[in-house]
Amino acid sequence: MQQPNFPFDIRDVEEHDNEELSKYFLGVGKANIQVGPKKYLLISEYKNEAANIYNMPVRSDDIFIVTYPRSGTTWTQEIVWLLASDLDYYTAANTPLQARSVFIEFSMIMHKEFLDKMKKVHAGKEENLKALDVVSTPGTVQVATMPSPRIIKTHLPMTLLPPTLLDTCKVVYVARDPRDVAVSFYHLTSSFQSFNFTGDFKTYWGLFVKDLMYWSPFFDHLKEAWEMRHHPNMMFLFYEELTQNLSATVKRVAEFLGKEYTAEQFDELCTHLKFDNFKKNPSVGIDNLKELGIMAQKGEFIRKGKSGGWRDYFDEDMTREAEEWIDKNLKDTDMRFPAV
Ligand code: A3P
Repeated sequence: MQQPNFPFDIRDVEEHDNEELSKYFLGVGKANIQVGPKKYLLISEYKNEAANIYNMPVRSDDIFIVTYPRSGTTWTQEIVWLLASDLDYYTAANTPLQARSVFIEFSMIMHKEFLDKMKKVHAGKEENLKALDVVSTPGTVQVATMPSPRIIKTHLPMTLLPPTLLDTCKVVYVARDPRDVAVSFYHLTSSFQSFNFTGDFKTYWGLFVKDLMYWSPFFDHLKEAWEMRHHPNMMFLFYEELTQNLSATVKRVAEFLGKEYTAEQFDELCTHLKFDNFKKNPSVGIDNLKELGIMAQKGEFIRKGKSGGWRDYFDEDMTREAEEWIDKNLKDTDMRFPAV
């Protein structure tokens, strides 16, 4: 199906694949679509926002943070927001990151069936219903009235974003080893009720390597950005660079944004960003989503913060399969994940 003002086909997922997805993602059911020639897997609500996002007015001082899910987006949002906001820790502590840096396609995750269910759960509780309205308002509507500079989060691949993006504003793309991504995404989608994944990790990984995972195909997502990495407005980062050398990487981001700070200020920023502090920081968490029952209480948004943790989840067969899958997908690119 062709949408007005949107150049890509949006198709239903093939019945066999849709069966498989709906068997495990109980929160989404069969509301799956695939977009464009790469067949990016998204939730059908995306149809309502595809053209709005693709054609959204971009401002020259916008900064987009583009990632495949669970690649260090939240960490990067806080880095970029603070660097761009003259290290305003007061506002950072008092305004949730979700409001400071809007997730442009979040309304897709709050898909209709799930939202209706949530509204029933919260019937009569005006505050909660208002909060539901806020989180399900399309990102394009939210950012239209945001003061500049806007720091915008998205998991959409570069080709589904405004085609003028890189020539207009800065983009920070973050990539991460797909094995750690899969483990982290597995935990998130198991506790995020609008996905409600009910299988085990091995099943999850089986879907992941078949590109039957939301925002996949993983490698196309990364390669689209990798090919643009020499554009002066594009910074391509790896999560592993952040975990291995936070200070040097944060300084590179500052340089990219044209921001200068003293050594003491960078030290203070890195202390703020360190995993143990970050995990305790309510402003970057999503406790509001837990309070609304969108995320299960036991779910952890900022979880382990390690590179290489996938080893605890992969048996020998999966390890070999992962290596083969990664090798195959790296054949036509010089992109390499930093060794950890
Ligand atoms: P794990 O689940 O492996 O711990 P995203 O923000 O894109 O959803 O990515 C989430 C991943 O980034 C999670 O990975 C989370 O713990 C990790 N992360 C978030 N903040 C971090 C920090 N300050 N230091 C290290 N890792 C962090």
